[in-house]
Amino acid sequence: SSPIAKNVPLQYHHVTREKRCKLWNNKSLGCTVWFTGYSGAGKTSISFQIESYLISQGIPAYALDGDNLRNGINNNLAFSEQDRNENVRRAAECAKMFAECGFVALCSFVSPTAAARERAREIHRNANIEFFEVFVDTPLEICEQRDVKGFYKKAREGKIKTFTGIYQGYEAPTNPDLILATVDVPVEKCANRVLDMIAARGLIP
Ligand code: PPS
Ligand code: MG
Repeated sequence: SSPIAKNVPLQYHHVTREKRCKLWNNKSLGCTVWFTGYSGAGKTSISFQIESYLISQGIPAYALDGDNLRNGINNNLAFSEQDRNENVRRAAECAKMFAECGFVALCSFVSPTAAARERAREIHRNANIEFFEVFVDTPLEICEQRDVKGFYKKAREGKIKTFTGIYQGYEAPTNPDLILATVDVPVEKCANRVLDMIAARGLIP
């Protein structure tokens, strides 16, 4: 419930999640997969690979990505710890709605604090929706070597004062549902490990 607004009782839908999921010929029951890791770890690549595979199989999926949400719903947030936590909270609330519609919601956010990720899990637990935390475990040195966006170089030059791993910390998950090593592992293989995990829980065929 809202920490500030009063007098806003929950309204109950007439349509259950199960009824909604029949729309997809029972090809998906909806769930959220949450990718966390350093910038450049491979979160977006893996998530988009899975999205594209699922869609090719007629399974509803939608990827929610930090860069993209920060250009839209979260465009009033910066990179303070408080803003990052709010970024994660809103993303989790969005993912929950996609999952309730039967989509596999694929979330790729640095999400550097354990507390914010736990809150994301809690948002799903309260809605009875499966939530998988996937640690994209690429060491900082490798992410910096890759420097796909050139942000590590900029950060080292002091031009991005809040960069994760350089100026701000990253709390690695202590009990993730899956740990993906990405060094010398193709994106497809990482994607398959995630897909196997969801399928093993009966959430997709
Ligand atoms: S967070 O911590 O979960 O709120 O971050 P997120 O929404 O995933 O946004 C991370 C992407 O924003 C770009 N970027 C930065 N990342 C980390 N630290 C700082 N200071 C920063 N500034 C911009 C960057 O493109 C991140 O995307 P990824 O895919 O992680 O590289
Ligand atoms: Mg990314």
